[in-house]
Amino acid sequence: MFESQSVPPISKSSKIVVLTGAGISAESGIRTFRDAGGMWEQYRAEDIATPEAFDRDPETVWEFYNERRRKAGEVQPNPAHRALARLEEHLLPGNFTLITQNVDNLHRLAGSKNVLHMHGELSKVRCTKCANVSETMELFEGIPYCDCGGMLRPDVVWFGEMPMFLEETQNHLYMCDLFLAIGTSGHVHPAAGFLQTAKSAGVVTVGVNLEEPANVRYFDFFFCGKAGGILPSLVDNWLEALSTKGA
Ligand code: OAD
Repeated sequence: MFESQSVPPISKSSKIVVLTGAGISAESGIRTFRDAGGMWEQYRAEDIATPEAFDRDPETVWEFYNERRRKAGEVQPNPAHRALARLEEHLLPGNFTLITQNVDNLHRLAGSKNVLHMHGELSKVRCTKCANVSETMELFEGIPYCDCGGMLRPDVVWFGEMPMFLEETQNHLYMCDLFLAIGTSGHVHPAAGFLQTAKSAGVVTVGVNLEEPANVRYFDFFFCGKAGGILPSLVDNWLEALSTKGA
């Protein structure tokens, strides 16, 4: 699919950092946020994705997250998720880090191991009193409570809250050889700034997106189209080069 000169080279010892957004899960049937028909056309973030919204009306927030949990339980990884898992398998241990803004678990289901869920995970709940985090895909009727009596909330990052793993992510961005961003509009910081950080650290930057994201100018290589079509070919191309080089 690609002219070899249009694909940046990697070696087996390359350190690769990948950032994914809602676009990578679109072909699995999960709605994105800002495309036509996206989630933020139907809902206002300030009604269901802020700590203030949860304080005001936890039932409504839980209804929204129950629906997302139900949907997440029905979908499967697509070829783009699986291509990333294949790439990780062929690199040296510790040289592949996948940072996702997505709260679904499709990367792990596809076989990716080193995944940092910077916006949390739909499958986890956190107690607002004792802070205990536990894993459950139960669809709750009304508001769920912890054994300690505290109200449980989805263990996701809302607007106005600090994303997870930021320090670790910054370190990976400075240390890597190649940064690959897939299916993210480049509108939501701090994730939208990772590309510029990597670029200014001298890292080769590669983008795959259905349309040009807001920060497209910082990509050295940009592939426009569906992740499920482009990623498998891109990864095949890299793996073929690794096997011929024996690197
Ligand atoms: P967006 O909905 O903002 O952007 C999704 C991007 O994926 C768009 O640029 C689409 O063009 C692209 N896209 C759609 N389908 C695609 C496909 N099949 N292949 C490749 N690209 C495709 O989603 P994010 O950038 O992930 O945060 O949004 C970031 C954060 O904003 C989310 O994590 C969420 C949201 O508000 C919180 O809720 C805190």
